[in-house]
Amino acid sequence: MTKRVAIFISGSGSNMVKLLDSMHGDHPARPCVVLSNDPSAKGLERAEARGVPTEVVRHQPFKGDRDAFEHAITGALAHHAPDIICLAGFMRKLTAGFVDPWRGHMLNIHPSLLPKYKGLHTHARALEAGDSLHGCTVHEVTPALDDGPILGQAEVPVQPGDTVETLSARVLVQEHRLYPAVLERFARGDKRPILLR
Ligand code: GRF
Repeated sequence: MTKRVAIFISGSGSNMVKLLDSMHGDHPARPCVVLSNDPSAKGLERAEARGVPTEVVRHQPFKGDRDAFEHAITGALAHHAPDIICLAGFMRKLTAGFVDPWRGHMLNIHPSLLPKYKGLHTHARALEAGDSLHGCTVHEVTPALDDGPILGQAEVPVQPGDTVETLSARVLVQEHRLYPAVLERFARGDKRPILLR
């Protein structure tokens, strides 16, 4: 049966676009909604332009009450009935109260070769450490930040003279290959990790 996919974003949604554009033909999934915590997220327009329903659940009104924020997200998702959630640049931490019921059905993309560099500023940290290899990871979401079983990684060699801008741009190109590839396999029930080079 075709899986229904919700995509959560906070920004430009370039990964979201790649996911949306991948779900055609004999792909085992279809998008059902794009949700953002930020009404000005550029990705919302890009989803609407593709005919995908959108929802906005602003986090500010729920300041200090993550449970209520997450409850509102659950409410906004209800009539879209997703089977899978893909976090794609969604910049809010989700607590166990939300994550646990979705265990095994929620994915995230992170711009590092996990378990290295959980959290923010991953490209700067890889450069500072003098790493020769950087990249990105798609993983199942668990309550711990940027943790959970790895479903795929794409390696990006660090070049001499790389800056955060040049390195992050090359990692993003790989994110755009990796996330659709992982989602397609995952939606077929195949959780064997993918390695792209
Ligand atoms: C990506 O680098 C993703 O790995 C990170 O946030 C960024 C989102 O970019 N979590 P976009 O909104 O998909 O363009």
